[in-house]
Parts: sequence; structure tokens; C-alpha cells
Amino acid sequence: MKILVTGGTGYIGSHTCVELLENGYEVVIVDNLVNSKREVVDYIKEITNKDVTFYEGDVCDKELMRKIFKENAIDAVIHFAGLKAVGESVQKPLMYYRNNIDSTLTLCEVMDEVGCRKIVFSSSATVYGSPKSLPIKEDFPLSTTNPYGSTKLYIEGILRDLYTSNNDWSIALLRYFNPIGAHKSGLIGENPNDIPNNLMPYIVKVATKELEILSVYGNDYDTKDGTGVRDYIHVVDLAKAHVKAIEKVLKDRGVDAYNLGTGHGYSVLEIVETFKRVNNIDVPYKIVGRRPGDIAACYADPSYAKEKLGWEAEKEIDEMCKDSYNFVKQHKG
Ligand code: NAD
Ligand code: UD1
Repeated sequence: MKILVTGGTGYIGSHTCVELLENGYEVVIVDNLVNSKREVVDYIKEITNKDVTFYEGDVCDKELMRKIFKENAIDAVIHFAGLKAVGESVQKPLMYYRNNIDSTLTLCEVMDEVGCRKIVFSSSATVYGSPKSLPIKEDFPLSTTNPYGSTKLYIEGILRDLYTSNNDWSIALLRYFNPIGAHKSGLIGENPNDIPNNLMPYIVKVATKELEILSVYGNDYDTKDGTGVRDYIHVVDLAKAHVKAIEKVLKDRGVDAYNLGTGHGYSVLEIVETFKRVNNIDVPYKIVGRRPGDIAACYADPSYAKEKLGWEAEKEIDEMCKDSYNFVKQHKG
């Protein structure tokens, strides 16, 4: 079976390519490298000792997409390609709508043309907005607070409409909670060039002394220690869920959404303390005001993914913190 992975050199995409290859799938990647590096293709090959076909280009380029489907007998697609920085999406909404929605429309049009109607889509827990209760289940009301989140919600709607129009489609909408960690090899992981917005990449840069101090955004939330609580999931566990989702779309028609989280919430201070302990390194921090738009707590009820996909997260928070640091230590400089 041959899987097209859009955005396959990115953080979650690269880990998913490894899991696909290790489970006997062939992998074709298309990525325009706006947020990743070409050498990731070599790292994927090195880890798995398997070959990968790579196209550098934009998923919005219809002729390129037609060429990829013509040159490869694709059985199903995992669509990771997209822009993901919340703050930037507020500054440049048109860029986000154009890239994330156009790439999905173009991809689906070409898939429809060639009769490949099996797709796994990267959605996000951001589609739950500010949840009324916890843990979050898939049937909770959906809403968004920024253009990035809106692209995810609109695309979910587009894909549902597509299934309504033609029941031959088979679609999995995967709502990720907070992926952290990296592959054990230390070859692939997440290491943004810019100042990170997300907690773990920021902690890592403070640990390596690239940044001076972590700002903890608020300690007056109604949570265990007053700091924000999130459902952190190891990226390798997340990648494994994609293999299960691919099995599902190859087997059954329909459209369905799945929460991909562990079901456990950790506070910012718990993450900082765990990171310090397992890596035996200091992470200086200061408490500052809340970050606008943040919610107090967010964690999944992941039981639907267990029931329908036969998947559940296995890795614990210690391993997530260790692997995040291990990757960046190896890739510093
Ligand atoms: P990433 O930026 O590391 O990977 C995305 C990849 O897509 C990058 O390699 C980028 O170069 C590529 N890309 C972007 N637009 C493209 C286009 N038009 N054509 C071709 N390639 C393009 O991000 P990630 O963390 O691996 O996230 C993957 C997907 O999961 C994204 O859609 C993201 O929105 C979604 N997601 C991520 C998180 C998270 O916390 N990382 C959470 C929820 C959802
Ligand atoms: C982010 C995204 C969200 C996405 C989710 C999962 C933003 C605003 N939102 O949210 O769209 O769905 O990731 O990938 O980027 N924190 C600090 N100091 C920091 C950074 C973060 O205290 O320097 C805190 C935050 O207040 C929060 C927690 O750490 O309580 C996690 O933050 P972050 O990693 O940005 O993830 P989300 O807020 O869940």
C-alpha cells in the first residue's frame, strides 16, 4: 500500500512516515519546505532503512498534484501540510486561509479525479474553543477563536460535505491535543528557528541557554496549581495513531472525528519540574500575566479512538520531556 503524506517532512509528518514505513507501507512525501528541511527525508530513510519518494512543491499546485498521482499508485493520503502558528494567523489571516484551505481543496479535487477517496486529516483540539467541561469528547460543541483554528474547522466541514456528496469517500479527522517529544534516535523532532510560541520548544531553548527565562502565562487559573493544564502526547504515539487511521480509511467508508490525546492533564509547572528532573538541568522561569486567548484546561477523552481505531497513547510524561531535550541537544548549532 502506498501512502501520500503531504507535509511529510514536518514535525508530526516525519514521525508518521517512520511509523508507516516500519509497518510495511510505501511512502510518497510532498512538502514545500516552508517549515521543514530537506534533510529530514534522509533522516527518515536512515531510521527505517527504507526508501521514500520526495517531491518538493506546494500542495496548492494542481499540476504537481496530478503529476504525483500519475507517477504513483496512491492508495490513501495523510494531509499534514498547513501553516500552524496561531499568532501569525491573526496577523495574516488571508495567508492562512489561502494556504490551508486551498491546499485541501486542490488535493481533494485531484484525489476525486483519480478516484483515490481515502484521506486522514490533521485537525486540532483548537476546534473545541473553550470547552464547557472536561474531559473533551468528540461530540462537544465546536468553535474557534483565531484564523488558524477556523481553517481546521472549515476543512472538517468541507470534508464532511464531500462525504455527503459521495459516500465513496473515507475520511478520518484527527484532533490532536499537544504533541511533544521526538523520535528516540534524536534525528527527527521539533526545533523551530523562530522564538517558539509553544511551551515545550520554549522550555528546551531555555535549557540550552538560547533563551534566558521561561515566562509562565498566569498562575491564577482554576487548576491544580493555578497554571494552564494541557494534554501532552508523545509525537511517536501520535504517529502510531495515523497508521491505525490509515488502516481504518482503507477498510471502511464514512467520515468520523477522533480525539488523539492521553486523557491526562499536566500543568505548566508540572511540565517544567518534570523536564528539570529527568534531564537534570535547570529551567529558570517567572510568572507573568495570562496569554490572551488561552484557556485554563484542556484534555481529551480518548476512548473513542481506542474503541474505533484500536489505538491509545502509551508513553508517559517523563519520556516526552527526555526525548524533547535529547533531540535538541543533538541538533544544536
Ligand atoms: P509542521 O509545520 O512541522 O509541518 C507542516 C509541514 O507542511 C511543513 O513541513 C511545511 O513545510 C509543510 N507545508 C505547509 N504548507 C504547505 C503547502 N501548501 N504545500 C506543501 N507543504 C506545505 O507542523 P506539524 O506540527 O507537523 O503539524 C502538522 C499538521 O498538524 C498541521 O496541519 C498542523 O496544523 C496540525 N496540528 C499540529 C499541532 C501541533 O501542536 N504541532 C496540533 C494540532 C494540529
Ligand atoms: C497551542 C495552540 C493551539 C493548538 C495547540 C495544540 C496557541 C495560542 N495555541 O495551544 O491552537 O491547538 O497548541 O498544538 O499557540 N505557556 C507558558 N509559557 C510559554 C508557552 C506556553 O506558560 O512560553 C503555557 C500556556 O499558557 C498553556 C501551556 O503552556 O497553558 C501550553 O501552551 P502551548 O504549548 O502554546 O499550547 P496550547 O496553549 O494548548
